[in-house]
Amino acid sequence: MPVKQPAAGDLEPIETASLDELQALQLARLRATLRQVYDHVPHYRQAFDARGVHPDDCRTLADLAQFPFTTKADLRANYPFGMFAVPRAQVVRVHASSGTTGKPTVVGYTQGDIDRWADLVARSIRASGGRAGDIVHVAYGYGLFTGGLGAHYGAERLGCTVVPMGGGQTEKQVQLIEDFKPDLIMVTPSYMQVIVEEFRRQGKDPRAMSLSVGILGAEPWTEAMRRDIEQSAAIDAVDIYGLSEVMGPGVANECIESKDGPVIWEDHFYPEIIDPETGAVLPEGEEGELVLTTLTKEALPVIRYRTRDLTRLLPPTARSMRRMGKIVGRSDDMLIIRGVNLFPTQIEELVLQQGQLSGQYQLVVTRENLLDALRVRCEVAPQHRHADRDAIARALHHRVKTLVGVSAEIEVGLPDSIERTLVGKARRVIDQRPK
Ligand code: DLL
Repeated sequence: MPVKQPAAGDLEPIETASLDELQALQLARLRATLRQVYDHVPHYRQAFDARGVHPDDCRTLADLAQFPFTTKADLRANYPFGMFAVPRAQVVRVHASSGTTGKPTVVGYTQGDIDRWADLVARSIRASGGRAGDIVHVAYGYGLFTGGLGAHYGAERLGCTVVPMGGGQTEKQVQLIEDFKPDLIMVTPSYMQVIVEEFRRQGKDPRAMSLSVGILGAEPWTEAMRRDIEQSAAIDAVDIYGLSEVMGPGVANECIESKDGPVIWEDHFYPEIIDPETGAVLPEGEEGELVLTTLTKEALPVIRYRTRDLTRLLPPTARSMRRMGKIVGRSDDMLIIRGVNLFPTQIEELVLQQGQLSGQYQLVVTRENLLDALRVRCEVAPQHRHADRDAIARALHHRVKTLVGVSAEIEVGLPDSIERTLVGKARRVIDQRPK
C-alpha cells in the first residue's frame, strides 16, 4: 500500500526545527508555565514552597528536575476545580477520567486550550497520513472521555469530513463504513479488531473496506496486534497517545512513514523518564515512568505529571522531536477495560458498600472475542450465608455499570470462597489476558 509521505510545506516549521530552536521555545514556555501555576494555583505555590523552589530557579530545562511531581492524588485532593489556573468562568469545557476511587479526575480547558488541542490532533492526523478532504470515522467514545471530542475537533481542524459515530453499535459501524467510505478511522485497537470480526461475521471482506489508515490508541497494544490489524483490514495502523490530565489524545502520535513510536509534540509537552521508585530522572533511552509537563495549557497546566505509564524516550527520526517507545505497562494498578480506565479500588468501594458481602474480592481480567472482560468475584459475609446471591450480583452489576462504566460479570460466592493472601499484598487482580 502506498504510504503518504508528508509533502514539503505540509509540516509546521517547528516539526522540523533544530534542537536549539526547540529547546529555546521549551524553556521560555516552561518558565512561563511555572510562574503561571505559582501565581494562580494554591496547590503549586504550597508544593514549590515546601520544596524550597521558585519559578525563577528554572534557568535550564534540566532545572525542572528540582520541582515537585504532580499526581492523580493531587488532582483528586483539589476536586473538582481547585487545580484550575484561570477563573472557572473562562473554562469552556471539562472532561473527566477515572480516579483511584469513586470520584473522577476533572480536567478543564479554556477556548485557547481547545484550539491548541484541535491543532495538535490535526497535526497527529496529518502525521498519520490524513489530509484535508479525507473522511474520518471517529469510533472513540464521546462524552466525558477525551477520545471522541478530541479526535473530532482535530479532524475538523484539519479540514476533514467527520463521522461522529462514537463507540459501540458494531453493526452500525460496519454499515456507516460501507456507506460513507471513510479514509481514516480513529478507534481503540481492540475495538478495531471487533469491527473487523463483524465484517467477517456478515460474510464481508474487511480488506475491501475503504479505510487506508487507523489511528489507534487509548490502551496498550503490541506490534503483534499492529500486524494483525494491518493484515486483516488492509490498513496502516498508527499509534496515538494521550491522557486527559495532560490534554487528551494527541500528546504524541506516530508518523506513518516511520511507524517507530509516537512522536511527543515537544513544543507543547516536556517529557522526562524517571525511576518510579526513587523519582530520579533517568538517562535518555532508559525505561521508566513517563512524566509530562505542559508548556502551553491555560486552564489546567500540569507540572511533572506522573503518568504511571512505563516507556522510554527515543531519539528523533521523522520529526525533530523525541519519540516514546510502546507503553510496556503501568507503575500503578490501573486496568483499561475496553478503553475504560479502572482502578481495583473503585470496585472495592462498591463491594464494601454492599452490606451483605464480606469485603473480600478479586478481579479476573480475561480476553473474550478480542475484547477485555472483567469478572468480579466476591462472597457473602458468614451471617448472610442464606442471602439471595443472584440478587446481590444483579445489584452490584448495575452499580458497577452505572458508576464505573464497565459491564462486569459478578460472581457472588459462599463465605470464605475467595482465597486469602496470608503474606504480602492481597492479590486483587488476576490478569488472564494473553501477553
Ligand atoms: O485514553 C486519551 C486518548 C484517547 C488517547 C484516544 C488516545 C486515543 P485517559 O482516559 O485519561 O485518556 O487514559 C490515559 O490510557 O495514561 C495510558 O495508560 C493509556 N493510553 C493512552 N493512549 C495509549 C497508547 C486517553 N497509545 C491512559 N498506548 C494513559 C498505550 C495508552 N496506552
